[in-house]
Amino acid sequence: MGKACPILLSRVHIDKEIQKATLRALNSGHYILGKESQAFEEEFADYIGTKYAILTGSGTAALWLTLISLEVKAHDEIIVPSLTAFPTIEPILTIGANPVFVDITDTYTIDPSKIEEKISPKTKGIIPVHLYGHPANMNEIKNIARRHNLFILEDCCQAHGARFENKRVGSIGIAGCFSFYPSKNLTVCGDGGIVTTNNKSLSKTLRMLRDHGRSSKYTHSILGFNERFNEIQAAIGRVNLKKLDSYNEHRRQVALWYRKFLSGLPLELPQEKSWAYHVYHMFVIRFKERDKLKLFIESKNIGTGIHYPIPCHLQPAISAKSRPINLALTEEYCKEILSLPIYPMLTKKQTTHICNAINFFLHRQSEEKKAAKDHDLP
Ligand SMILES: Cc1ncc(COP(=O)(O)O)c(C=O)c1O
Repeated sequence: MGKACPILLSRVHIDKEIQKATLRALNSGHYILGKESQAFEEEFADYIGTKYAILTGSGTAALWLTLISLEVKAHDEIIVPSLTAFPTIEPILTIGANPVFVDITDTYTIDPSKIEEKISPKTKGIIPVHLYGHPANMNEIKNIARRHNLFILEDCCQAHGARFENKRVGSIGIAGCFSFYPSKNLTVCGDGGIVTTNNKSLSKTLRMLRDHGRSSKYTHSILGFNERFNEIQAAIGRVNLKKLDSYNEHRRQVALWYRKFLSGLPLELPQEKSWAYHVYHMFVIRFKERDKLKLFIESKNIGTGIHYPIPCHLQPAISAKSRPINLALTEEYCKEILSLPIYPMLTKKQTTHICNAINFFLHRQSEEKKAAKDHDLP
């Protein structure tokens, strides 16, 4: 266990096929929303199981433009979990609407049993987040949405390829939003996002919004933005999309190794419900003395992360404006969660090395506690 082999928290895989695709796009003479982007949209929609997919500048832009297309307005309310990346709620706030936070379950996704008590006449929709690659409990969420006439916008930014029962996330709500940020299960080696939907009119509005509101070259039918996509990244995305299933299978294999080597230790390992196909964007454990464990693991040159140390409702950007709320599990988990390295190229040897470090720390800690107890004995 030395300094010689740093293990990163996540890593982008670049190979000859990616390099070739990059050069192909570079030499094509078309750089924005051309043939590569169109093919990527079609292939992605086909993969998720929706009729349409619309590329955007980022996952945040995907959420933002979709909320605008769904006619969310100032003072509307949107139900969301608070344990998520801040960009889940940024677009809600940008529009002037209000996020209404709901606690989570042991899968780290929104707790459906706590949604209905938060619904008011101002509620327009629910954004479940398939956090860390585990789908939210979509059947229960769908039932609630149907009863109260709310839309479901899935935040799939961490869950490319994850399934709820036999359906890929992104094909269950009115729309699904994905991010291609470099650490994601599917990346384009830069920023990027995509919206999936079966709704034709939504897809048309999204296409206009991302390109200055254009309905044709010189006609701006609505006010829009520049949230377009470039050809080089689309070409990279197409290569990575072909490999997504095998990459996800490898992530699941790493998760199995973690489960095997960490079982029986005083740690909480991630849940995978019977209805879920988890794609392990993150492998998140829980431990009461998380910060000490994190420091120790990092001293062994192993990357870790905390996703997220501060829940959205306590972020300084909004906490002053929001009323105090009780999100007990969210706040408890934020103090204990720790993300371990996981990515398609992580080997069994590296995973064993990480688990050995954790084992060593826990063993040493229990010895120290035993010695302190013995010392205190009369
Ligand atoms: C859950 C979630 N939502 C939204 C986003 C925003 O995506 P992007 O960084 O592509 O804007 C991210 C990315 O970090 C995310 O993890």
